[in-house]
Amino acid sequence: MWILYIVLFTLPIIFGASRDFFEREDYDAFGDRLAITENRVIFAENGAREFAIIENPFSSNPVACYLEYIYVDSPRHANTSLDYVYNIVMGSKQDEMEPVVAMIGETKQKEFYLIVMIMAYSPGCTNRLKRTIWVPVSFYELFPPSALAVDPRGTFICVVQLDSTLCIDIISNTTTTSSNYQFWDKKQFFHSRALAISEKRRLLLTAYRIIDEEKKLIPYLYLADFSDPSNPLLLGMKNLSSQYLKQERDVFTRYATLSLFLHETSNMIIVGVPHLDCIFIFSMEQNSLSLVKTHVSPEKNVLFGKSVAIMDSNIYAVLAYSLATLPWSLSQIQVYSLNETVEMPKPLFIFPNNQQEMESTDSQELPHRIVSLMAWHSNGIGLVLDAGNVLLIPASPPGYCSASIKKYEDIDIYKPKSCIPGTRQISSSFGPCMICPPGYKNNGSAGELCVKCKTNDTFWCFGAAINEIDMKNMTSYDQANPYPESPHATEFEDILLQNIFQLPILNLHCLRISPIFWTFVGICCCILICIIIKILSCWSKSRKRQQCIQKILSHCDVIGEGTYWLGGLISLLVLILIIFACKFSISFTYLYPIEQISSGQRRTVSCDNTLFNAKLTSSLQLLSTLKYEEEKPIFTLLNGQRLLLTVQVISTGYTCKDLELHTIRVRGLSIQSENFTCSKHNEVLTVIKLLPQHVLNMQLNLKGPHFIGGLRLCFTAASVTNSDAHSRVQAIDTCQLFFMSNQTLTRNPTVNVKMTKVINRTAGFTLPNETTYTGLWLPRFTADTLTDELLFSLGSEYLRYVPKITTLDISITESEFYMKNTQEPIARQYEILFSTILFASKIVLVLNE
Ligand SMILES: *[C@@H]1O[C@H](CO)[C@@H](O)[C@H](O)[C@H]1NC(C)=O
Ligand SMILES: *[C@@H]1O[C@H](CO)[C@@H](O)[C@H](O)[C@H]1NC(C)=O
Ligand SMILES: *[C@@H]1O[C@H](CO)[C@@H](O)[C@H](O)[C@H]1NC(C)=O
Ligand SMILES: *[C@@H]1O[C@H](CO)[C@@H](O)[C@H](O)[C@H]1NC(C)=O
Ligand SMILES: *[C@@H]1O[C@H](CO)[C@@H](O)[C@H](O)[C@H]1NC(C)=O
Ligand SMILES: *[C@@H]1O[C@H](CO)[C@@H](O)[C@H](O)[C@H]1NC(C)=O
Ligand SMILES: *[C@@H]1O[C@H](CO)[C@@H](O)[C@H](O)[C@H]1NC(C)=O
Ligand SMILES: *[C@@H]1O[C@H](CO)[C@@H](O)[C@H](O)[C@H]1NC(C)=O
Ligand SMILES: *[C@@H]1O[C@H](CO)[C@@H](O)[C@H](O)[C@H]1NC(C)=O
Ligand SMILES: *[C@@H]1O[C@H](CO)[C@@H](O)[C@H](O)[C@H]1NC(C)=O
Ligand SMILES: *[C@@H]1O[C@H](CO)[C@@H](O)[C@H](O)[C@H]1NC(C)=O
Repeated sequence: MWILYIVLFTLPIIFGASRDFFEREDYDAFGDRLAITENRVIFAENGAREFAIIENPFSSNPVACYLEYIYVDSPRHANTSLDYVYNIVMGSKQDEMEPVVAMIGETKQKEFYLIVMIMAYSPGCTNRLKRTIWVPVSFYELFPPSALAVDPRGTFICVVQLDSTLCIDIISNTTTTSSNYQFWDKKQFFHSRALAISEKRRLLLTAYRIIDEEKKLIPYLYLADFSDPSNPLLLGMKNLSSQYLKQERDVFTRYATLSLFLHETSNMIIVGVPHLDCIFIFSMEQNSLSLVKTHVSPEKNVLFGKSVAIMDSNIYAVLAYSLATLPWSLSQIQVYSLNETVEMPKPLFIFPNNQQEMESTDSQELPHRIVSLMAWHSNGIGLVLDAGNVLLIPASPPGYCSASIKKYEDIDIYKPKSCIPGTRQISSSFGPCMICPPGYKNNGSAGELCVKCKTNDTFWCFGAAINEIDMKNMTSYDQANPYPESPHATEFEDILLQNIFQLPILNLHCLRISPIFWTFVGICCCILICIIIKILSCWSKSRKRQQCIQKILSHCDVIGEGTYWLGGLISLLVLILIIFACKFSISFTYLYPIEQISSGQRRTVSCDNTLFNAKLTSSLQLLSTLKYEEEKPIFTLLNGQRLLLTVQVISTGYTCKDLELHTIRVRGLSIQSENFTCSKHNEVLTVIKLLPQHVLNMQLNLKGPHFIGGLRLCFTAASVTNSDAHSRVQAIDTCQLFFMSNQTLTRNPTVNVKMTKVINRTAGFTLPNETTYTGLWLPRFTADTLTDELLFSLGSEYLRYVPKITTLDISITESEFYMKNTQEPIARQYEILFSTILFASKIVLVLNE
């Protein structure tokens, strides 16, 4: 016993200033002030000095009642009134007609009692207190008696105090007190907080044991048999860690809380050791405990295990006290499968999540902190918040999610709500609905299962599908055509010769316009004429007619100066050639600019239908270089073109109500924009916004738990002309579709758009003609991460259900370069005229030699 006193008197001196001690006002200061059974919830509110009681909380019409502390007055001492409740318990399977509530309470006179309220069943809110039992408990200032438990039937209540253990048997109306010294721990002093009692009156206790006189504290789990309270039996003790608590004073902080939960049906025990961020699961056989599982949280110093529970459906829930789930909470409840065998299992889901949110209370804004977690029989959980609120989250039937919040003063009950479209809930659970598997859909009325999609080339099924989406009008397209290349030859003489001496025999059309072909035809005619002349001269004796023809031909001869009649024939052929050359030259002149000539026009000129009278060059120029005066208008026009951005959110449950559009200015300043149009049709949300400028950052915030299958961005703008400056900006019509088949889009997709100016400069055909400019904005879309599927496939599937909003960032920037395409005629009129004459005279000259 002397050790006890040494500890008692030295600890406060060692501690000095208090360090994250529980405050008296904290809702988890000395244990749980909330008790839940299937038919009743009771929450002790010390601030208001009353109990909030809800009868049939999980039925369709719960009844909320209040019981003030003063009504719990002691029958024996008229002057004793309850002032503060430390913790409160109820048996999970107790008699409905005579429910028993046990608590440790402090009176105004600072006396401590174990108070048992035996209530009477009544449907209304009348005073139903049948009788109360007040049993004094011992108290040492720093060691409040907080290890209190009741057996499932509500007949056997125990309190483990610093020096003794007190038990009350309601049925036999007996109170027994046994000394802790010589029983729980033969030698060592210890401090305990969490206690559980099984149906067979086995007591389970977690406590810090002080080893040696060096006051090293180690957490232990004890198992004792109290079936005969006057003769209790210690069955076993297990160290939960070989690690000492670093500082003794920590034992009085949240950091050192030990939590315990006994699951009656499976005889499983879960113990939380938050300072190690660790939980242990034991299985209780007849008289012993065996360790089934150790689960260490990968996150450190989050007080994982501050509260724990095992539920019927083979899952366990753990409170991670300092792991934030913003914007709702600074804590989270993680739910795991007991079946999981890996060393570091991933949560099945967490609470809160985007389907099951938390609301701010009258007294406190979000985020709240969850201070404790409780479970009862039917797979639900009850949470106490630091805001003095209680959340009750019962399991919902398949096809539903416990999401619609109903308030009963300080107690919020989560009522079932249909799963959001694209998701399903197969079994009864208090968690969120999960997305349909790939290739399945749920439009919200498919019930608990998803139905198979009927897809084809145009009807697609995205991830978390609501319906098949008609993608016929949802394709990607752009205006980024490559600039044409110049023709092979860019010298007019080359082109002329090539076209005159080319003999395409295979193509009839080409043959028809080929000069050389007609020349051959001419040669043939000549030969024919020669033969005819010869025959004529043989047939008719008269040489007169023959001479006459020869004479005519000799006159035609421009080559041999009329000496030979054959020269006349050749001259005719030369004439054909020259006529064709002229014809080609004249029509070639008009093959400029390329935009204004049809392919039919080109075909009549030459067999080579890539031929045109234009030299094309293309180059990148720095946008920052000085512009020529005549170039400036096109840049002004381009910069002034009003762009319309269309964002289509495909296969989504979001509606226009969920949308907020922000433009982000420098230094993170964001301005909400109201000036946009939004429409929803067939699960496609279409947002159209006139962009105030060409370079900007925009953010679309979609609030809610819904999913997105794909995304399509379109830029459109009307054509603008400045005819005085011979400049015209083309209409923009470009769309880009982003999606990953079978997967949902990430919660924060970012699309970067780089806008590049393309300018076509077309030189005038004749020198007085003005140079014309046409311009076009060419957007290029890039999106880095489209889906978080990789993250989820690493096992953290629950992350899918956490973010409250989907944020689409669209960042539009302008490229530093612009593309300049220049078009000039290969040869202008005078050059063509000159070259043609030169060509004709050269032929005549050559034949003359
Ligand atoms: C109640 O007890 C206090 C002291 O504990 C005493 O002063 C007071 O008179 C008592 N009141 C009644 C009504 O007995
Ligand atoms: C229980 O025992 C106490 C005395 O120990 C007595 O005052 C009380 O009336 C008893 N109650 C019942 C219901 O037997
Ligand atoms: C209990 O203590 C022993 C020795 O001190 C150690 O080997 C063992 O790992 C501890 N058990 C746990 C669960 O930490
Ligand atoms: C665990 O396994 C049992 C039986 O194998 C099964 O009934 C139960 O649904 C599983 N629980 C989970 C959460 O996977
Ligand atoms: C999408 O899911 C369907 C159905 O499971 C499957 O047949 C198809 O191969 C998947 N497509 C891709 C790209 O994974
Ligand atoms: C969902 O689809 C079914 C047919 O598969 C249809 O009968 C029902 O009206 C649809 N529900 C909604 C909300 O669109
Ligand atoms: C795809 O299926 C839809 C309805 O399921 C039908 O209207 C459409 O014609 C089909 N398209 C093709 C290309 O088969
Ligand atoms: C697709 O576009 C065409 C032409 O704009 C339109 O007539 C048709 O109704 C559209 N189809 C759908 C499913 O929107
Ligand atoms: C809103 O946009 C329309 C064009 O869509 C424009 O005419 C109007 O001036 C804009 N209003 C404001 C306040 O910006
Ligand atoms: C070039 O100028 C002439 C007269 O100056 C005009 O007839 C012709 O249409 C102009 N051509 C173009 C392409 O502007
Ligand atoms: C430039 O000319 C090419 C070829 O005619 C054309 O395809 C393109 O659209 C033109 N671009 C602009 C900006 O006018």
